[in-house]
Amino acid sequence: MPSISASAPGKIILFGEHAVVYGRPAIAVPVEGVRAKAMILARPTAPSNNVLIEAPDIGLKSLLNDLPKNHAFSLLFSAVKSYLNLEHFPAFHLRATSSIPIAAGLGSGAAIAVAMLRATAEFLGCPLTDEETSLLAFESEKAYHGTPSGIDNTVIAYAKPVWFVRGQPVQFIPIASPFTLVIANSGIKSSTAEIVSVVRQNHEKDPAAYDSLFDHTARISRQALHALQFGAINDLGPLMLENHQVLQHMGVSLPELDRLINAAMVAGALGAKLSGAGHGGNVIALVDPEHAQAVAETLLSNGAIETITTRISANEELPCSPS
Ligand code: MEV
Repeated sequence: MPSISASAPGKIILFGEHAVVYGRPAIAVPVEGVRAKAMILARPTAPSNNVLIEAPDIGLKSLLNDLPKNHAFSLLFSAVKSYLNLEHFPAFHLRATSSIPIAAGLGSGAAIAVAMLRATAEFLGCPLTDEETSLLAFESEKAYHGTPSGIDNTVIAYAKPVWFVRGQPVQFIPIASPFTLVIANSGIKSSTAEIVSVVRQNHEKDPAAYDSLFDHTARISRQALHALQFGAINDLGPLMLENHQVLQHMGVSLPELDRLINAAMVAGALGAKLSGAGHGGNVIALVDPEHAQAVAETLLSNGAIETITTRISANEELPCSPS
């Protein structure tokens, strides 16, 4: 019996992490060089509802029904079941693998969810639109993030650069000129849910200070959108450094991340910042392509455990109107 497979890219947040949880805009792009994959085989002899899930990267092999109700995969498949009005699933074996580093700010959880959704929907003969895929993947994001903004599932489901404002329709960003980023994994695993909750507590303690940091971030994101739409790539570097400073004030950077950013700048990067929740995870550096290797080597010799160089291509999306 033939298998069905689907995949989804990783992501990075270019501008606006954390502020996006509080309704400010953020910019994210897919990272095509790393992917999550899901493969499904029917189990014609097994009774219905017998869904076996295997995810070797996280050491999981279990029947769906045996997973805790709040497990990301349980949340995902119960969302699918109710969305498609299914009483039960036909029996199948789903194997998920991924080259996206886990807990590193690259959207591994959302990418696994999107790949699983696409493979499952095709197996069931009910293909989903990107919008439906994103909405359903959001359900499993709640297991990882607690109160996610929805930016990860959105950029990964659409696999396009996005201008994202929580609760508003997504807009796709016209990229006028291509640019190159070096992504460095600090090797420090971080829990997005925990960091989002620390920022929430700090916001509750000092709403004026945190709202002003979020507003500052929103201004940076708007300027970055303008630079992307008009091909002013050199303007992005200083905006990344400014966004990193704001993230430091939010308390989500670490000396190890600051060190990587300084090292990237000394090696010739045009700008750099942490990307994602912080307290570990990854930093991103904007580079001229001819400096990419030197910046990547410097990041590795300053503590990064791996680097990914990715090129964001120009595209012809319609201009988006920032809100
Ligand atoms: C996580 O990739 C980005 C955060 O802004 C959380 C979220 O948007 O859900 C830190």
